[in-house]
Amino acid sequence: MVAAAAASAALETGKVSVLLGAQWGDEGKGKLADVLSMNMDVCARCAGGNNAGHTIVAHIGPDKVKTKFDFHLLPSGLVNPRCAGFIGSGVVVHVPSFFAELDALQKKGLNCDGRLFLSDRAHLVFDFHQVVDGLKEVELGGSSIGTTKKGIGPAYSSKASRSGLRVHHLYDQELFANKFRKLVEGRFKRYGHFEYDTEGEIARYKAFAERLRPFIVDGVTFIHTAISQKRRVLVEGANALMLDLDFGTYPYVTSSSTSIGGVCTGLGIPPTAIGSIIGVMKAYTTRVGAGPFPTELTDEIGVHMQEVGAEYGVTTGRRRRCGWLDLVVMKYSCLINGYTSLNLTKLDILDNLKEVKVAVAYLQNGKELPCFPADLDILANVEVKYETLPGWQGDISTAQTFEELPENCRAYVEYVEKFLGVRIEWIGVGPSRESMIKR
Ligand code: IMP
Repeated sequence: MVAAAAASAALETGKVSVLLGAQWGDEGKGKLADVLSMNMDVCARCAGGNNAGHTIVAHIGPDKVKTKFDFHLLPSGLVNPRCAGFIGSGVVVHVPSFFAELDALQKKGLNCDGRLFLSDRAHLVFDFHQVVDGLKEVELGGSSIGTTKKGIGPAYSSKASRSGLRVHHLYDQELFANKFRKLVEGRFKRYGHFEYDTEGEIARYKAFAERLRPFIVDGVTFIHTAISQKRRVLVEGANALMLDLDFGTYPYVTSSSTSIGGVCTGLGIPPTAIGSIIGVMKAYTTRVGAGPFPTELTDEIGVHMQEVGAEYGVTTGRRRRCGWLDLVVMKYSCLINGYTSLNLTKLDILDNLKEVKVAVAYLQNGKELPCFPADLDILANVEVKYETLPGWQGDISTAQTFEELPENCRAYVEYVEKFLGVRIEWIGVGPSRESMIKR
């Protein structure tokens, strides 16, 4: 399927389109974001920070040189040279990482001049937040979260406790310095003294402020102008539903709203501005970090998924835990995010398996739970009810249409679709941009 055609068919014009991770992250959102961004005017981030990560391979410049780009904080739609990138108010921004990522993109020949914008309401992540992220994890000992140590949780804590610093604070130097000193002092009181050059940081941020100035916009005006001018806006979700602060497997979550609600709060747009909500789900389940994972496989099939699926984190390089597709999780995810369609990714990773299982219910003391449970002790002890489907044992990576997939493979897709009651519109059958079936 030609990617651009795949992109245009899906989206409602005049409405914001949203792409969200439907499981525990790393579903492969980057590929569809890349495909859709080819037809977009703006690609926006609404939550999270540089804890997210995806790699996009694109052909750039007049010579169409194949180039690999890593995105963590910047919107990945920037790979389309006509698309603007917008970092919304709900994102937490580590300024040195912002520039490091931007410089890396520019160095690889991706010119981002004049098309990258940052909301003045976004909160800042400082190096001391990252130090504290590590200290908190040490303090938690055996029950640590397994964070990315990018300072995300501590920065959102500063925000929630109303002591955080936002982008606009950079331009009132005295206020910035005073608030900054207070924040660091607070961390020293809480965690004991750690090595940190407070005054050096204040001076460093004075220089950053000047370099950052051309990127800064009033985020609310920016996004509403884009919408009212009928510019095509894609919101690229970060992390995923099961890492949502409210609805994920708390406390093994990130510290932002990664669900559809975070799109409205993070960009300052009403729900009525949103058209398509596309959920990205892997054909199996993976998770990095700690916390219960009912369908986890620690046998050779889990290792197969890890190896064949190259399940290593882009941000931290950690091995991802792997398991069967969990439709209890997906049903819950569909309820909360209201997907209008789904992208099933990495279906080819299941190619050689004799049979494929999907979790269809959780049982507690033999009784089926009505929904994904809040209590992790219950979750850790559920008995998982599986449906076993026959494998297709064939290479699907060259299939370009749904009809070209083996019968058992189509049956797997149709089973998932029927169970969830949401149409699977895209199917990823290989790593390249072209290996995406659009139905
Ligand atoms: P934090 O976001 O660094 O605070 O990490 C909290 C939890 O979210 C940890 O389990 C991380 O591994 C997980 N996490 C954060 N971002 C991602 C992501 O983009 N993909 C997968 N897991 C993530």
